[in-house]
Amino acid sequence: MKDNLTLSDRVKMASFCLFSNRFTNGPKVKQFESKWSKWLGSKYSLYVSSGSTANYLLLSSVKELYGLKDGDKVLVPSNTWVTNVGPVIQLGLTPIFCDINLNNFSFCEENLKYIADKHPDIKLIFITHLIGYPANRDKYSELFPKALLLDDVCESHGCKNPDGSKIGSNSLGATFSFYFGHHISTIEGGMISTDNFDLYDLMRMKRSHGLARESERFEGYIFQYPEISKQFMFVTDGYNFRNNELGAVLGMSQLKRLDKYIEIRNQNYLKFINLIKNYSDYFIVPDYNDNVSNFCLPLLCKDKKQANTLRKKFDENNIEHRPIIGGNLLRQPFLSEYGIETQKQNLNVDFVHYNGIYLGNNHFVGDKEIELLHCILEKL
Ligand SMILES: Cc1ncc(COP(=O)(O)O)c(C=O)c1O
Repeated sequence: MKDNLTLSDRVKMASFCLFSNRFTNGPKVKQFESKWSKWLGSKYSLYVSSGSTANYLLLSSVKELYGLKDGDKVLVPSNTWVTNVGPVIQLGLTPIFCDINLNNFSFCEENLKYIADKHPDIKLIFITHLIGYPANRDKYSELFPKALLLDDVCESHGCKNPDGSKIGSNSLGATFSFYFGHHISTIEGGMISTDNFDLYDLMRMKRSHGLARESERFEGYIFQYPEISKQFMFVTDGYNFRNNELGAVLGMSQLKRLDKYIEIRNQNYLKFINLIKNYSDYFIVPDYNDNVSNFCLPLLCKDKKQANTLRKKFDENNIEHRPIIGGNLLRQPFLSEYGIETQKQNLNVDFVHYNGIYLGNNHFVGDKEIELLHCILEKL
């Protein structure tokens, strides 16, 4: 993984530092949020300190706005990043874990049907669109017609719904990460996008300690609570999950190149698929389609021993590799008291846990790196 700051990003940040006097959350953040909403096709966006705090802030605000109670059930995948599941537990909700599928790494539909029968009272589904693949949102709403849907798009900026709209647009709440290695970077940072004004307004306050002055309804609160100092009036509990002006300057600079970056990532991904097709005895070959916005190059080895051999080969060649995101999260000590709600014997998530490897992809990756992979696979 490499930091992906260009010379022009650095010049923009340096010039901002030299000529500006405001660095905390201010007009540049607002501008970045508005450009992001336009790019995504959503009504409101909120720039925050990370993808993880985006998930936490979104979930805590949805819990408050929709009156979810402690213990209410939230459906989550068994393979995602840990801070998709962490906030569910931290906020006193109950995670219901589902197996994943091997096509888009989202929920396994067979397992989902079982869960829909067993837990028809699931209140919320926190979908992860993993490693650039859009999940099948329509199917989830069909199986859980009463549940609210949230989208973790932290790894999949620009991946698309079947109708061509971007995942995260028309969403109650969608989160994005701008940590380096993701499609664009603000060094650290995240975004929440929503089409729901009440949720947006609540999240604005919670992002900043719960301060009423962050709300569009500030005048109303002043009228309602005349005895409280208006600049220091708190109408909800809150956090400090703000980001800063410098991050927003970098974000706007990178946003201009996001579509190009997605295109390069997808070109690399296509070359990768065409390469591993020649090794279909060793690998499960994923599909390519236009709705993907590739995050990394995933290798699913048919044989576990082969996966270990390959990991060694990558180490010998100084090629960075990782498990496919969280692997089976239920194997993590942190989640050892939970289980996957299934009667299935062979879980896809375990297959991914033991047999999955991911190689990085971004706009610095090209033919040279794909050729190096080719040389390694040839010697298997
Ligand atoms: C699916 C997913 N959700 C959330 C996050 C958290 O983002 P951040 O690292 O910006 O906190 C990540 C991080 O990589 C992620 O992959």
